[in-house]
Amino acid sequence: MEAQPYAAAPDDRPVLGSLPVEPLLTSEFDADPGAVYRRLRGRHGPVAPVGLMGVPVWLVLDYREVLDVLRNEYLWRRDIRYWRARAQGELPSGWPLLAGYEVRQTMFMDDEEHRAARQTLHTALRPFQEARGPQGWELRAAVSRYSDDLVALLAAESGSAGFADLGAQYTRPLLLMVTTKLFGCPVDLGDELVMDLWRMLDGGPGAEPATTRALAAFTRLAAHRRARPGDDLTSYLLLADPRLSDEQLGRELFMNAVYLNDITGNMVLNTLLEVIRGNATVRRSLSAGQLSETVDRAALANPPVANMCFRFAARDTPLGNYWIRAGDAVSPSAAAAHQDLLAIGTSRLVDPALSTRSHLGWGAGQHQCPTAARELAGVLVAQAVGRILDHLTTVELTLPPDQLPWRTGPVVRGLRLLPVRYEMARPPSQHRGGVPREPDRRTRGLLAGLRRLMFRGQG
Ligand code: HEM
Repeated sequence: MEAQPYAAAPDDRPVLGSLPVEPLLTSEFDADPGAVYRRLRGRHGPVAPVGLMGVPVWLVLDYREVLDVLRNEYLWRRDIRYWRARAQGELPSGWPLLAGYEVRQTMFMDDEEHRAARQTLHTALRPFQEARGPQGWELRAAVSRYSDDLVALLAAESGSAGFADLGAQYTRPLLLMVTTKLFGCPVDLGDELVMDLWRMLDGGPGAEPATTRALAAFTRLAAHRRARPGDDLTSYLLLADPRLSDEQLGRELFMNAVYLNDITGNMVLNTLLEVIRGNATVRRSLSAGQLSETVDRAALANPPVANMCFRFAARDTPLGNYWIRAGDAVSPSAAAAHQDLLAIGTSRLVDPALSTRSHLGWGAGQHQCPTAARELAGVLVAQAVGRILDHLTTVELTLPPDQLPWRTGPVVRGLRLLPVRYEMARPPSQHRGGVPREPDRRTRGLLAGLRRLMFRGQG
């Protein structure tokens, strides 16, 4: 075996566990994460040690360092078995974030295994990408239909002018309906999946058993579609890689469901927020009919995956002002990197003509959001945002922007609700050639279930 050509950290450099760390998840972080990133950067430079629910990790703050980490898969590994604190049993028992990291799927694979898993997803998603193909066309038509149903339901319940939460009454049910359709969930599995995804996405107590239940449900869905293939992502994943076991397919579906519901939902809400609160450049790109530019601008202002999942150092390496030891966990922060990017603006690092596309909302490097998933997400966000803005002639926030409630969590910067006052010209049921159309039974059933769950969550 050849000698290890890389240097170990010099002895006089501090190790992560010996540094005083400030806890990341505080009420200050919920209210103004930008202020926390600025302070950390001022104190530590491009990389800062922080505490995540009692576990010290490195938060990568500056654009160039974030890109360096994302782009070097050989130095920065995804396989959780590289994590020294986990391997040495140093994580607190019941640490809430571990359940998600233990679900071994594409995101937490490296090298050939990872490339093969991405290729499988890409092949399975391809039929839904092509707007002119039957599956792509059907999916797009379904999104418009669901969108119209939800607006019609709003009109039926609250009138053509009133108050709404565009999170609970529009974005979240819409994405759950899309997931149910895309994954090919049979009716009897649908409600169960939807309820557990909600519990899981809300985190906190009950998230771990919800994760277990959701995984079991996705595994059953995998078995169901193996027995009865259809025109859906689950069946196409099996076609693309027939060696997938039901358990592994269940894990892949689970992770895709998180992206499809939580992350895509956040992108929809963040884009709507930027439009409604009157971000001038976002509005301009929207009125010029460039919805994808609008989405890019919203992602730059507020990336839905604020802090990306851990990478683990394969060996000792300098990063920012510190030496990271082999097996340390680092979280590249897209949100902090964007703050840095906007501050450096026209500097040599960023071509101003490319600046909106330079955002890290999709990640970067080998683990970035797969092209097929990005395109699908882009279509969903554009349709979800475009459709509701088509229906609403007036839409304004009912809370000052600095009082909007944000979720607490290390990964997602997402709104709990988006409360608005709206007016619509005509409810969508009257748009269809004058034939009145009520939201279908499934839309009503899904919403009733979501409301029950939300009501319980507040109790
Ligand atoms: C607007 C919506 C979306 C955004 C902003 C988004 C963003 C991201 C980001 C930032 C990553 C990289 C995470 C990291 O490196 O730690 C990622 C990875 C991924 N996304 Fe997306 N995503 C979106 C929608 C979707 C959808 C709809 C799907 C599937 C249908 C999907 C599937 C995936 C997968 C499979 C990965 C893991 C790739 C890998 O590790 O190789 N995403 N996404």
